[in-house]
Amino acid sequence: MPKNFKRHLITAALPYANGPVHIGHLAGCFLPADIYVRYLRAKGEDVKFVCGADEHGVPITIRAMKEDKTPQQVVDDFYKIIDTSFKDFGISFDIFSRTSNKEHHETAQAFFKDLYDKNLFEEKESEQYFDEEKQTFLADRYITGTCPKCSNENAYGDQCENCGSALSPEELINPKSALSSSIPIKKKTKHWYLPLQNYEAWLKQWVLEDHKEWKNNVYGQCKSWLEQGLRSRAMTRDSNWGVPVPLPDAEGKVMYVWFDAPIGYISATKELTPHWEDYWKKDDTQLVHFIGKDNIVFHCIIFPAMLKAHGDYILPENVPANEFLNIEGKKVSTSRNWAVWVHEYLEDFPDQQDVMRYVLCANAPENKDNDFTWKDFQERNNSELVAIYGNLVNRVFVLMHKLCGGKVPPFHMDIKDSLDDKLYEKIVTSKKAIEESIDSYKFREGLFQLIDLAREGNKYLQEKEPWKKKDDQKSIDNCLHLGLQLCANLAILGNPFLPHTSQKLCRMMKVVDRMLEWKNAGSIQLLKTGYSLNQPTLLFAKIEDEQIEQQMEKLHANAIAHEESEVPTEAANTNPIKDEIQFDDFSKIDLRSAKIIAAEKVKKADKLLNLTLDLGFEQRTVLSGIAEHYTPEEVIGLEVTLVANLAPRKMRGIESQGMILMTEDADGKLIFVSPKKASKVGSPIH
Ligand code: MF3
Ligand code: ZN
Repeated sequence: MPKNFKRHLITAALPYANGPVHIGHLAGCFLPADIYVRYLRAKGEDVKFVCGADEHGVPITIRAMKEDKTPQQVVDDFYKIIDTSFKDFGISFDIFSRTSNKEHHETAQAFFKDLYDKNLFEEKESEQYFDEEKQTFLADRYITGTCPKCSNENAYGDQCENCGSALSPEELINPKSALSSSIPIKKKTKHWYLPLQNYEAWLKQWVLEDHKEWKNNVYGQCKSWLEQGLRSRAMTRDSNWGVPVPLPDAEGKVMYVWFDAPIGYISATKELTPHWEDYWKKDDTQLVHFIGKDNIVFHCIIFPAMLKAHGDYILPENVPANEFLNIEGKKVSTSRNWAVWVHEYLEDFPDQQDVMRYVLCANAPENKDNDFTWKDFQERNNSELVAIYGNLVNRVFVLMHKLCGGKVPPFHMDIKDSLDDKLYEKIVTSKKAIEESIDSYKFREGLFQLIDLAREGNKYLQEKEPWKKKDDQKSIDNCLHLGLQLCANLAILGNPFLPHTSQKLCRMMKVVDRMLEWKNAGSIQLLKTGYSLNQPTLLFAKIEDEQIEQQMEKLHANAIAHEESEVPTEAANTNPIKDEIQFDDFSKIDLRSAKIIAAEKVKKADKLLNLTLDLGFEQRTVLSGIAEHYTPEEVIGLEVTLVANLAPRKMRGIESQGMILMTEDADGKLIFVSPKKASKVGSPIH
C-alpha cells in the first residue's frame, strides 16, 4: 500500500433494486471489493465495507410501471433477493443498506441543503422533453435516441452505454419517449444545477496530476471528459419517486438519482457505526470505490465535485473500475434475460461459491471486456481447482494419514535438501507477490500466484515421491511436514479469493480462524509437530459435461423465452462458431416442419405468443418470444421449424412443448427459419 492509512472505507457500487444481481455484477465490482476487504481484514486493518441497494431512479419507476406495481413494492422485492444473493454467495459487506430508508433521505437532504445554502447550485428554468401521452417529463432513461458521439441508436438521456459518454436528453438525435415511444414535446420546468465547470480546474489537478496511478481505463475516461470540458448538470428531476428536494418551492421535485445514490455510501456508514465521521472526514482514511466502467464519470467527476463542494468529506484514494463481463460472447442483458443470476447459480451449485469466485476472478475484466463461458467454468474447475489445488491438499492429507499416523510429522533439519528450500522460497515469494498484486488491485494476477504455488506443491510431491520411501521415514516426514505447512499457507493466501475453501481447510487442519491472519503466511511452522489432523474432505468436485449442458440450455431457453427480446448486439452477430460436435450429438435433435394453426397473445407477457402447431400426427403448444415482431394474425398459416424433442418448459403457467427456430434479419428483426416450398407437415428435417 502506498500510504500508511489508519482505516479503510471500501464501497461497492450500489446495485439498482430493479432486478436480481448477475455474475457480471459480481465480476465488475462486488468480487474484487470483497477480495480486497477480506485481505485488509486478514491483515488486521480497520476496515468497513459498505453497500446498499440503489432504490431510486428511472430503471425502478419504469419497471414498476410495466409491472403495475408501486416503486416501493419493486424495491422491497428486489432488496430481499439481492441481499440474500450476496449473503449466500459470501460477499462480506459490513452493511447492505438501502436508499429508500429514512436515514438516507435525511442524509441526502442535508447534503443538498448544504450546497444550496452555500449558493452552489444554479436555479434554472428550461424547456425539457415531455411525454404528452404519459403526462410526464422525460429525463435520463425515460428518453432514448441516437448518441451524438458514436451513433448508437439506443443511447439514454443520461448516458450512452456503447461509448460511455455522459449525455443530456438535448444531445440525443431523434429523441423518443421510452414510456410510450412517442416523440416528446418541450415544456418549461425548473431545476437545480451543479455547475461542474467550476470544479474543472480542480478536477484536472486532482485526477490527472495527483492520481496518475489510477487504472488506465479509469484515468483515460476521466481525461477525455475533462478535456472535452464540463458543463452544468441538473441535480433534480420532476418525479414523485426519489429523495424529495428539501426546499419550500420544490413540489414534485426529487433529487437526481446520481446525486442521492453515492451519498448512500455515507448514509450506510452512518447506519453502521457511530464512528462514521472517522471514516468520512479523516485524512488518514483510505476511501476506495469499486465500480463497473459505466459508473466512472459519476465516481470520478460528479461525486468528487459534490464532495469538494460540500467540503467536509474526504475524497476517494482510488476508483478501481472493471470493464464488462460478457456471457458466451454476448453482452449481458437484463431485459433479454441473457445472464447468469447469482441466486439461480446457487440453486444449481449450492456450496460452490468458490468455484464461481475463482472463475470470475481468473477472467476478471480488469483491463478489457472479458468473456464468461460455461465451458471455461468447467475447465477451470476441473483442471485447476480440482486437479491442482484440491489434488495437492488431498494427496498431502491422504499420505499423512497413511504414512504418518494422522499426525503432523516432525521435520528433520539434518536431511533438509534443496527441494525443501525451493518450496519454502516459493511460499515466501508467493506471499509477497500476492500482496503486491492485491495492493495494486490486480486480483487476477494474485489468483494466478496462488494457483501457481499449489502447482509448485504438486511438483514437490512428485519429485519427493514419499509413497516410494517406505524404509526412509525421515524423508517421508520432511516431505509431508512441508506439504502440510504449504496447505496452511494456501489457506491463508487463498482466503481473500476462496474464503469457503479456506474455512474447509481450517476444519481439516483443526485450527481456528485466527490462523488465517495474513501475518501467519510465509511461515512453515503453522502446524505443530505431533498435532493430529482430520481426514481430508473434498475441497472441489469435478463438474460433469451434463451440468454444463444444462446451464447452456437454461441460458438459451431463458433468453429466447424471455418476453423482452430486444435487438441483439453486434457481438451477438460475430459470435464465434461453437465447439465441434459429433454427428451423434446432432442427430439427437429432432427437427420437424410444422404449421402454425392458431396464435394468441399471452396475458401479462407483452412479448410472448402462444402458438398451436400442427405436426400432422399431433398438435403442440409452443410459447415464443416474438410478439414484438409479429401479430398473432401474421403468423397463422406459416410453416416453421420445430425442435420437437426439447424438454417441455413452463412459462407463465403454460407448458411450452418445443421451440421454434428463428434467425434475424439485418435490422435485428426475428424471422422464421422456414422451408421455401410447402413441406409435408410433421416431416423430419435433416
Ligand atoms: N445503481 C448504479 C448502477 O447499478 C450504481 C450506483 S453507485 C452509487 O449502475 F454510487 F451511486 F451508489
Ligand atoms: Zn455513444
